[in-house]
Amino acid sequence: MVDLDVLTLAESAFISVLGYFICRHLIREYTPVFIQRNMAGRDLCKKNSGPIPEPMGIICAIVWMTCQSIFLPLPFLQWTMSEQEFPHAKFYGFLSAQLSISSAVMLGFVDDMLDLRWRHKLLFPTLSTLPVLMIYYLSGNSTTVILPPLLRSIVSPYLGEVPGCLDISFFYYIYMGMLIVFSTNSINIYAGVNGLEVGQSIVVAASVLLFNFIQLYRMETEAWCHSISIYILLPFLTTSIALYSFNQYPARVFVGDTYCYWAGMTLAVAAILGHFSKTMILFLVPQVANFLYSIPQLFKLVPCPRHRLPKYDPESDKLGMSYAEFKSGSLNAGGRMVISVLSSLRLMHREEFKKDGEKWTRVNNMTVINLMLLFVGPVHEATLTNCLLLLQLVFSVFGFAIRFGLASMIYNV
Ligand code: UD1
Ligand code: MG
Repeated sequence: MVDLDVLTLAESAFISVLGYFICRHLIREYTPVFIQRNMAGRDLCKKNSGPIPEPMGIICAIVWMTCQSIFLPLPFLQWTMSEQEFPHAKFYGFLSAQLSISSAVMLGFVDDMLDLRWRHKLLFPTLSTLPVLMIYYLSGNSTTVILPPLLRSIVSPYLGEVPGCLDISFFYYIYMGMLIVFSTNSINIYAGVNGLEVGQSIVVAASVLLFNFIQLYRMETEAWCHSISIYILLPFLTTSIALYSFNQYPARVFVGDTYCYWAGMTLAVAAILGHFSKTMILFLVPQVANFLYSIPQLFKLVPCPRHRLPKYDPESDKLGMSYAEFKSGSLNAGGRMVISVLSSLRLMHREEFKKDGEKWTRVNNMTVINLMLLFVGPVHEATLTNCLLLLQLVFSVFGFAIRFGLASMIYNV
């Protein structure tokens, strides 16, 4: 293994495990306080749900921030004790991560309290990306992408000698900013059944941690980048596991938008500082699919109800698809086209019915959760979450296969 500071890693692991126990303790202690203050939601997939404390993600995020504050000096102690020049760029990189992630937590908490409008949900995470991107720029980090030899040989007869690497400069920053905005929102819209928000984040964080360790073994460069990514993710993983034990079926707490924004920002920042922001997308395939499938409803081509989570049937105690209903004539051409393409591909359930003498249409809400129900039929909530988490895991395995199998055939990695 290359120059991974094993002592610092052990310190990070120790603080993270401590974070797990503190998190569990605080969630138990603050559950009644949340309910007293009316910071609670109703479980829409249960028969008679009492108030469930929300947003409990704020507790985990605060524990994570405390863990990081305690840990902050530890990777840098060796420099304060030696004659070597202090690595300012590394230190600022680590600090910028704390700043961006903390501002995402604040944004999520405000969203939970005020129900932000969509334009603000997109604008604020974009601004939160600035600390990380500015430090990335100031410390002269790479903005080049490697071109596959195959592509080079195809275009070189037309363009002459093509370099192996292409510096896409400003566009790389746009991509990284979009990754952050995407991951914060994509976890939030892939939600609605107990344990899904935090469960998917655990699978992605564990996959990214494994990827970092593999890269540390394989590569002789960039050890610091992968180490910093590990230091950010370890306490995130342990505090998320603590939260999952309360949020899994039947949920005793709800994670809230605070958790989703915090998780998305943490994963994206860990990927950017770890220098694998393109590989990260491989671990977010279900989130990308859910976003793409949701686009017609997000952009109002098809009506989008406030909640798109599955519909609970109290008699069978199972969840089935939830629907959007609208007058058939009210759709514009774009909406009609989307619905006819998706239903002919059997990726959507469509039904026509009459109401008050008028023709109405009913289509399932366009989420991967409902899509799963379209294929497997009504199932119990715990089974549905487990199927979706299994899907996430399967895509992680595919992600590794593509990154280390396919990519090494195309690139020299
Ligand atoms: C996003 C989704 C919305 C989905 C909601 C569920 C989009 C555009 N928005 O909205 O469709 O219904 O998340 O989180 O896709 N809840 C449960 N069981 C759970 C989790 C949540 O019943 O396991 C309910 C609770 O009433 C909880 C509420 O959802 O209070 C939280 O919803 P919120 O996070 O505010 O919804 P959005 O993120 O705006
Ligand atoms: Mg939410």
